Amino acid sequence: MRRSEYIALAERLLAHVTDGTTDSAESVKHIPVRNYLEPVRWQREMDQIFRRLPLLLALTCELRETGDYKSIDVVGLPVLMVRGDDGIVRAFIRTCTHRGTLLTEEGKGQCDRFTCPYHGWTFDDRGALVGVAGRHKFGEIRTASRGLVQLPSAERAGMIFVRLTPGAPIDLEQYLEGMMPELESFGLENWHLYRQNELPTSNWKVAHDGYLEGYHFSTLHPNTIAKQVMNNIMTYDAYGPHQRVGFPTYRIHGLREKAQKEWETEEGVSVVRTIFPNVSFAIGLRGGLMSQLLPGPTPQTSRTIQNHIYPRLPANDEERAQTDASVNLFMYAVEKEDNWVCAQIQRGLASGGNQDFVFGKNELGLHRLHESIDYYLSLSSEELFKPSSKQNGSSINGHGNLSQASEPAPSPGTIKD
Ligand code: FES
Repeated sequence: MRRSEYIALAERLLAHVTDGTTDSAESVKHIPVRNYLEPVRWQREMDQIFRRLPLLLALTCELRETGDYKSIDVVGLPVLMVRGDDGIVRAFIRTCTHRGTLLTEEGKGQCDRFTCPYHGWTFDDRGALVGVAGRHKFGEIRTASRGLVQLPSAERAGMIFVRLTPGAPIDLEQYLEGMMPELESFGLENWHLYRQNELPTSNWKVAHDGYLEGYHFSTLHPNTIAKQVMNNIMTYDAYGPHQRVGFPTYRIHGLREKAQKEWETEEGVSVVRTIFPNVSFAIGLRGGLMSQLLPGPTPQTSRTIQNHIYPRLPANDEERAQTDASVNLFMYAVEKEDNWVCAQIQRGLASGGNQDFVFGKNELGLHRLHESIDYYLSLSSEELFKPSSKQNGSSINGHGNLSQASEPAPSPGTIKD
């Protein structure tokens, strides 16, 4: 986090701690429970949001070298990303163009040729069909038109984004406008993936809601998160559909004893940044967790991929033990606490006991998440695929009505704790 950003955030959080307040919405918000349940709506979310928007599918540190590849299934689409010998990461649908066999299972590896396990057709790292087994018997085909289907992709600031619609434009400068400087400040392109693990979870919105408030810390996480982070005090900033949520840690009290120039950057604050629709960064300058939430295969299910990332790998046993402790804390809190409660909510949803959910004024991040979902569901196909344009400000690559010309959302009000 940049120094100036930290000072401004710490001042806001310190004021809330002093006053017993938090950033808040103007009023509570009611959400129909059917928004979480209806299969038709869920499918529209997949089609209008996940299949249309740029998705963060990999980190640079996962595909650092030429020939590094990653295969991942996203809302039913089997994706392959590979770094070519020109240094560019390209993305493809990894179905063979002969009769559709998947070229690889999910996972990562290193190679510059992908050979289909069925009849042995081979594709290179740019998706070209470069080998047809038994070609003289196969008959006439135009190999140039039977390459893998390419997906739009772009790499910025240590992150690799893919749009799941072939031929769609991809403009990260506009899509991440406002949030990009926040993320660039970490230098993620030089970080390392220390560990990666996967957890099954609930409907993607049930899980995502939990990223965006600290109202639950003391009840759900009394022996993990709440040991360090205060309950129910948040700052909320929106950058188009993306959000930054700040929380005070107990160390924030120490700032009162120091001159501001002696505040150590990040001292007393903890930050979660979300990239719409499905990624959260809970990282600081010394590392942390990037979570990818992948919906499906049913409206009731998703999976979370946890990426434990650090600016440098542990250099000795003591540092390794510290890093492992941090990783284990994240894994425990998410699996045993967050995902446990998500499963409980999912059971509650299925029971029909609620007609609506109510988001408190203190849960402003949830208001904005669901407003963003509604916004993207309201767009026509033409609006979804309009090329980026600074003039019209309504492109999917910009933030449309949500962006307010890329400024963070208007300052939230405050409420007493
Ligand atoms: S399906 Fe791939 S080579 Fe036949």
